[in-house]
Amino acid sequence: MEVVITDAATIGSLVADRVQALLERKPDAVLGLATGSSPLRVYDDLAARVQNGSMSFSGAHAFTLDEYVGLPEGDPRSYRSVIDVELVSRVDFAPGAVHGPDGTAADLDAACIDYERRIAAAGGIDLQILGIGTTGHIAFNEPSSSLASRTRVKTLIAQTRRDNARFFDGDVDAVPKHCLTQGLGTILDSRHAIVIATGSAKAAAVRQMVEGSVSARWPCTALQLHPKATVYLDEASAAELELTEYYREVVEHRSAVQ
Ligand code: F6R
Repeated sequence: MEVVITDAATIGSLVADRVQALLERKPDAVLGLATGSSPLRVYDDLAARVQNGSMSFSGAHAFTLDEYVGLPEGDPRSYRSVIDVELVSRVDFAPGAVHGPDGTAADLDAACIDYERRIAAAGGIDLQILGIGTTGHIAFNEPSSSLASRTRVKTLIAQTRRDNARFFDGDVDAVPKHCLTQGLGTILDSRHAIVIATGSAKAAAVRQMVEGSVSARWPCTALQLHPKATVYLDEASAAELELTEYYREVVEHRSAVQ
């Protein structure tokens, strides 16, 4: 796991650089997109690059990580609507190129199986962008998630519903209790996983993700099993790490040998 500690604005441009480099090398790459606050600077940066003509998503495909169950199609709080507003409407994906799990399906289990099938048919995810929850979730894999899990229905833990109440006018009871989420096994299949974490509320989960024991108690620790994971942290989210000096040294000297 590569750990990059910098400021939030720099994280936005560094991750956008990674996406741009991938699309230059592989214009039909498959991206994995997180919603929530963490990737917003990345999406702003990518939108600016498309608008000034320096990059294009026209050949790319994308899959979102998760979706609430029970919100009607088009609800502005659904993750499908959020990713449309935050990224898709501001860049140049081809129509139909961005996919999300269907939280409105009559048969949710079948929708999950179909989502895994669609990811596989697209050739798998080249670059997965992730945030991390204060509970240690990645996507909506809450504590006790199987490290081998695939896309499925999950129940959100109370802390996540409290954290996300800000998107529901502060009303925790309005936050759905269930979701569809890519599994930890699905995420581990991505060719490169990038995690973005900012703010002190994430520090405990970041500590576990980078330096804790691999355990379903902290689902983010599954990323220690990923062959290529890069974690972008601001100083506040990195504050509880033990080996920060080493991580900085690795980044400072990596060009000499890599
Ligand atoms: C969102 C997702 C979640 C968020 C996490 C952090 O699609 O999968 O895991 O990334 O809850 O949310 P923010 O970035 O809003 O702090």
